Amino acid sequence: MSVIRTVVTGVGSYLPSRVVTNEDISKIVDTTDEWIVERTGIHSRHIAAEDELTSHLALAAARNAIADAGIDVQEIDTIILATTTPDNTFPATATAVQAELGLHHGAAFDVQAVCSGFVYAMTIADTFIKTGQSKTALVIGAETFSRLLDWTDRTTCVLFGDGAGAAIVTGEQGAGTNADRGILTAHLHSDGRYKEKLYVDGGPSSTQSTGHVRMEGREVFRHAVVNIAEAIKESLEATGLTAEDIDWFVPHQANKRILDGTAKRIGLPPEKVVMTVGEQGNTSAASVPLALDTAVKDGRIKRGDLVLLEAMGGGFTWGSLLFRF
Ligand code: UT7
Repeated sequence: MSVIRTVVTGVGSYLPSRVVTNEDISKIVDTTDEWIVERTGIHSRHIAAEDELTSHLALAAARNAIADAGIDVQEIDTIILATTTPDNTFPATATAVQAELGLHHGAAFDVQAVCSGFVYAMTIADTFIKTGQSKTALVIGAETFSRLLDWTDRTTCVLFGDGAGAAIVTGEQGAGTNADRGILTAHLHSDGRYKEKLYVDGGPSSTQSTGHVRMEGREVFRHAVVNIAEAIKESLEATGLTAEDIDWFVPHQANKRILDGTAKRIGLPPEKVVMTVGEQGNTSAASVPLALDTAVKDGRIKRGDLVLLEAMGGGFTWGSLLFRF
């Protein structure tokens, strides 16, 4: 049966040039390189310059992805930008990217699902393409998450970083089998009962300020391991594929221990896990496309490989997406 598949035709990313090490952070809060590495696997993270906005990071990643796909920018008819750190409360940061790219047609909007944002945005793009709303979409995850951090709170400020990743996705005819290139299945979830476990203590409607990240780390960890494994199971069951069929696991980069635990739970060997958390920290919605771009550009992920994405974040939100590159 012929179907429309949403095919990833190009990927790109961007990291701010400033690198902040654990050693640097230990001069600001009471922490050590040893504690951070042992509990999270993070050694360093990139932090945006003062005049660098989320839209700047997003635009740089987008330009890389457009060049990688080799398309004319005017072919893009939809821009979906996943972010928790928009340039302004409104308009959507996606519209700033749209303007900078010289696009005056189609639709551009932001998606707010925190760390799961890129998986949400890709799933929306997939639906848009399958329904004919879009032919070629630019999907971005971009964050200046450092702006939401309380730099006196050692339980959160050591974990996060800034960056952006992007993908160009285009509709192509497929045979309707698992051998098709493109997105094979996607599964999104949220459960608002857990809002207090991971949130920002401000916002336009509540405090008229941006606020700072607050997290009950151990609780989030506990839910993450269970929810992620469940979402992955859904993707495998929906396609009839098994963990052995997966060539590359590209997870949200929150904590090395979570990634190791998840891979073990689903029976994936460590060499199939793309891990960037050590040098990038947790970049929220940017982490999955940053990891994807890293593994494509260094030659690990090749055309035809089966790639599994997953993420979990504030809300809680979580999800998984399986695609053949
Ligand atoms: O991307 C969204 C999803 N987010 C996540 O998935 C994050 C999930 N959670 C985690 O990754 C981990 O829970 C953390 C890395 C945040 C924390 O690791 P943990 O092993 O769960 O540590 P903990 O929160 O249980 O804290 C253990 C101890 C505490 O001291 P006491 O109470 O045992 O005396 C903390 O006060 O470590 C202390 N601690 C620190 N010590 C040195 C907390 N942060 C630090 C720190 N440096 N930066």
